[in-house]
Amino acid sequence: MDWIFDAKTAIENRRSVRSFTSDPVEPEAMSQLVSFIKSVPLPFTHNTEIKFFKAQPTKDMYYTIRSPEDNMAFISDLDPISLGKTGFIGEIAVLKATSLGLSTCWIGTFKKSELLSLSPETLVGVDNPGLNDKSVADRATVCCCPVGYFQEKGLRLYDRLVKTVFSFNRKVLKDLLEEPSLEPKIPEHLMQAIEMGIKSPSAINMQPWRFSFDESFESILIGLPGDFKPFKWAYPNIDIGICASHVYLSLLAQDYNPKVEIFTKNNGVVFRIFPGKKVVKRVFKRKLIKRSRTEINKGKTVATSPTNKLGYNDLRGALRTVIALYPTANPVKFGVGIALRTATALCTKIDPKNKGVMGVVRTAALVYSKLDTKQRGFNKLLITAKTLIPVFKK
Ligand SMILES: Cc1cc2nc3c(=O)[nH]c(=O)nc-3n(C[C@H](O)[C@H](O)[C@H](O)COP(=O)(O)O)c2cc1C
Repeated sequence: MDWIFDAKTAIENRRSVRSFTSDPVEPEAMSQLVSFIKSVPLPFTHNTEIKFFKAQPTKDMYYTIRSPEDNMAFISDLDPISLGKTGFIGEIAVLKATSLGLSTCWIGTFKKSELLSLSPETLVGVDNPGLNDKSVADRATVCCCPVGYFQEKGLRLYDRLVKTVFSFNRKVLKDLLEEPSLEPKIPEHLMQAIEMGIKSPSAINMQPWRFSFDESFESILIGLPGDFKPFKWAYPNIDIGICASHVYLSLLAQDYNPKVEIFTKNNGVVFRIFPGKKVVKRVFKRKLIKRSRTEINKGKTVATSPTNKLGYNDLRGALRTVIALYPTANPVKFGVGIALRTATALCTKIDPKNKGVMGVVRTAALVYSKLDTKQRGFNKLLITAKTLIPVFKK
């Protein structure tokens, strides 16, 4: 799945930023963000729109934030399911922006009159006389989101307060479970997904989400608490969608293939996510070993050199070592032939008559595999192996 970014890191790094430089988003990052939003595959159909608009570096658009140049607006139908989907989609865009090194902040309290003057087509809903007809009555621009670069020096007292009081402050797990007694039984993969869900942003940091499960933990449900009363914030279903996106992305990152069902309960949206089976990734190493053995059996002469006769086991050991060195190599580029040649060279360059040499090489390979990939190379391996030989002789 090419579209997947490192969502776990993005979730860890994301913070609501309220201090922006006046720089526009770099064109390369902007084009990546825009094309991601257009093409990202989602586990449901929807009619959410994300529109970009430009703003002046003033506080005319957001009450407490000086706008950066670039901003997003999230436009949604106003039924609970659509609002949940908008939260899900908007947060995936926010996390992608984070992964591109950009700062963001969901904003529910933006100035509609200012948006109307900056970009009339972006303000959907009753506040826009031009668009105020029946077809848009149930649809509105529900949130905006500045996108830009964090200006650390710009943090004023309010920002610092918000940063320390809200940003890192989260409810504890037992307060977020519909049935707290289930906590010790939650399977590891769902636990990891919940941990990511808890890090979601929410309006006034309300964290209105509650997690529940079906009997055998085949699915996780994310919804509002049964007794929830909307207070100060009209669209808590957006927050549920945001949290569901974190849970979903975490399961994807753990190699699950999650399926999503969305329904309403007590007029609030519920996301039910089935992790499904873990996708078993084929490990190239195994394939290569199989092909290599066939190759070895075909012609043992590959293993000889003018000076030293190499035994089959020497070669096999060396080959395994070489393969272990290139666990992530592309099988097309790194063919059996190259593996064989490298292995043979390895055996002849170190002393193949020396018993246990392959053990040394394997140890060297282990040491070597810890090196940064940029530092690697055949000669480095050789040097590592050679320095190890005297140590082993002792
Ligand atoms: C739907 C939504 C609306 C929000 N609206 C505002 C807002 O109007 N003004 C603001 O300063 N922050 C707003 N926030 C940001 C929250 O205050 C912030 O997510 C929360 O305090 C947690 O901090 P964090 O995002 O840094 O983890 C909003 C967040 C969400 C999800």
